[in-house]
Amino acid sequence: MSHCKSLLLMLLLWACFLNASIAVGGEPLLAHPHSSKQSDATNIGVKECAACHSAPSPISQFRGVTRFVRLVESKEWLERDKHAYAYQLVRIDKPKHESNELSRRITTKLNYKDGDFERNCLTCHAGLNANEDYSSREVKLDLEFGVRCESCHGPGSEYTKREHHQQVSWRGLKPEEKSELGMWDLTSPSTAAAVCLSCHLGNIAENRFVTHDMYAAGHPVLPPFDLQVFLNAMPPHWQTIQKKSGFGNTLDTNDPHLEAKYISAHYDVAGTPTEIRAAIKGSYDKTRRSMIGGLVANDAGIDLIHQGAARTETWGDYSNYNCMGCHQEIKKNSTTLRVESRVPGRPFPANWLTLDYPKIHASGQETRDILKRELLASFNSVPFGDAQRINQLRDRQRQSLEERFLDRRKMERQIMSKDDVLQWLLFLTESRQDSMNDFWVARQTAWMVCVAIDELIEHGAIAANTLDTVDAMKKELQKMLRLELQIEQKVSVLESQSDILETANRFDSARCGVLVKALVQTAIETR
Ligand code: HEC
Ligand code: HEC
Ligand code: HEC
Ligand code: HEC
Ligand code: HEC
Repeated sequence: MSHCKSLLLMLLLWACFLNASIAVGGEPLLAHPHSSKQSDATNIGVKECAACHSAPSPISQFRGVTRFVRLVESKEWLERDKHAYAYQLVRIDKPKHESNELSRRITTKLNYKDGDFERNCLTCHAGLNANEDYSSREVKLDLEFGVRCESCHGPGSEYTKREHHQQVSWRGLKPEEKSELGMWDLTSPSTAAAVCLSCHLGNIAENRFVTHDMYAAGHPVLPPFDLQVFLNAMPPHWQTIQKKSGFGNTLDTNDPHLEAKYISAHYDVAGTPTEIRAAIKGSYDKTRRSMIGGLVANDAGIDLIHQGAARTETWGDYSNYNCMGCHQEIKKNSTTLRVESRVPGRPFPANWLTLDYPKIHASGQETRDILKRELLASFNSVPFGDAQRINQLRDRQRQSLEERFLDRRKMERQIMSKDDVLQWLLFLTESRQDSMNDFWVARQTAWMVCVAIDELIEHGAIAANTLDTVDAMKKELQKMLRLELQIEQKVSVLESQSDILETANRFDSARCGVLVKALVQTAIETR
């Protein structure tokens, strides 16, 4: 009898274990980070998209479709984009690169069995979704394309129906309307950032999470994220809104307001079509993307903590904390000793959590401050953080994140003026003053500052006689923080890993602070 009981208990425990290894995290606080409503659409595969998006037919050219979308996107992506090679660099069945060997080593060390590699690695390295059956032949072949069209643009089963996205009338729809049919409108910076971050930071609910076990088995450290810098590092298979013109008057349409309608789906601007064009031409859109991307990253970091805390199986993974909390050299002037909010000896959250949110959002400022304080307090109260205490914040945090999501939607519709850029630079450098001694925060901040400075230069807003000094300071920062990314399609990121880590170890935070301040000062002075 008792024998029977213990067997039953063992089975039960085993069942729990199995369950735990599939369902990994709590529901995210922002249930639909890519869209306001989620559709039931499913993936149709790269080959389907490529059928129309590789080379324009003479008819599409004749009809003027290519003035709106060039229809060469698939070819550009396949031949040049790193994402199209993301599976090839990590596949474990046909080792060809050093990175394949590393992948094998990681999966062997982690004792992976059938399906574990797909479930835990290909969610990021090939955009595998929960509703895709990776053992089916069709899906298997599609996964070989790596991070596929639909991993970024959204599942295509609905919007590719004849009456939808191929039609001229689709162009004027708002991002929310497109997402109802599964298309994530990447022209919206907040949507784009949420999509990129689900892999470039992680999302436990989608099983996109680099665990500490993976790191300790050799997975490269994920760099911080800046939307504009990461977009710059992708070969562009698109034309920005400013570059598209003359698409309102073609064989398919003779609507002088179509361009204005398309622009108004993304910006709050009024006036004649000519005035609207002029308004967006002057907008500092790159800085806007960088800023909004930073805000989304901030919130995605908070969401990740909450997702982790919602389940005992995921809470306590060292990946939830700042790596430097444990991996620091013991030395006199250790930079981690200077993190003010930290209780000595307690691992603390990654630094994007402790970064401020611009005061541009007047609403909800107080709630945000309280939530931030309480979240940090729960990390400081017991080693590794008090998950229960974090869970108690869940509902208020969700509400706050939802408000911020709507705020960002409003914010990204505004034209960004030169004054806005200067204010953003001042806010950014002031709010990050205390955390700039963290190499990763410094790297991301320098990216943001350089995006803004470059755009000011582009608009002729930096005095000509200071350009040489600005250039020299930027070059020094680039070297000090190794700002460039590895973007050659078939070149492994492993080639730059040790270099980045060595750069991090040599990091001179004092000099970096001086340089960033001086750069921003130069921009302000030529106001
Ligand atoms: C039957 C041909 C066809 C297929 C299949 C197709 N597209 Fe398109 N796509 C088009 C055409 C034509 C346009 C331009 C429509 C217009 O004139 O506005 C377009 C436009 C787009 C746009 C720009 C829309 C916007 O709102 O800015 C995106 C993004 C896009 N397609 C992605 C995809 C993806 C991803 C797939 C595969 C899941 C896909 N397409 C499959 C023909 C196709
Ligand atoms: C890693 C993410 C990613 C992947 C993968 C990706 N795209 Fe894109 N795509 C983007 C971004 C970002 C934009 C630009 C959005 C903007 O700023 O308007 C874009 C824009 C487009 C556009 C609009 C072009 C224009 O001129 O406005 C089309 C069409 C498109 N992509 C098709 C595809 C197709 C087809 C594939 C697969 C063969 C693909 N994309 C794969 C990120 C991606
Ligand atoms: C709570 C403390 C803690 C935190 C936070 C932490 N680690 Fe670790 N890490 C350890 C310990 C302890 C080991 C040694 C045990 C092992 O090898 O598994 C280790 C080992 C490693 C190793 C293997 C090193 C070697 O030489 O064998 C890597 C790589 C690593 N961690 C990366 C990271 C990264 C990246 C982060 C941040 C995302 C991080 N760690 C956060 C405690 C931590
Ligand atoms: C489905 C997951 C996924 C999505 C979504 C995604 N990426 Fe990636 N991205 C990857 C992976 C995986 C790699 C690494 C490829 C490799 O080296 O094996 C990568 C690599 C990159 C790199 C080169 C990174 C480096 O360190 O040098 C850039 C830049 C990049 N992505 C930009 C973007 C941008 C911008 C977006 C959003 C528009 C985006 N990605 C969306 C998975 C994704
Ligand atoms: C959260 C998304 C995510 C998950 C999950 C993930 N990775 Fe990665 N991986 C990335 C990104 C992003 C990069 C590129 C890092 C960079 O830009 O430096 C990368 C890089 C790599 C590389 C180096 C690729 C190159 O260019 O040389 C290997 C190998 C790798 N991953 C293997 C794995 C394996 C094996 C797993 C599963 C155990 C896994 N990854 C899980 C996102 C992920």
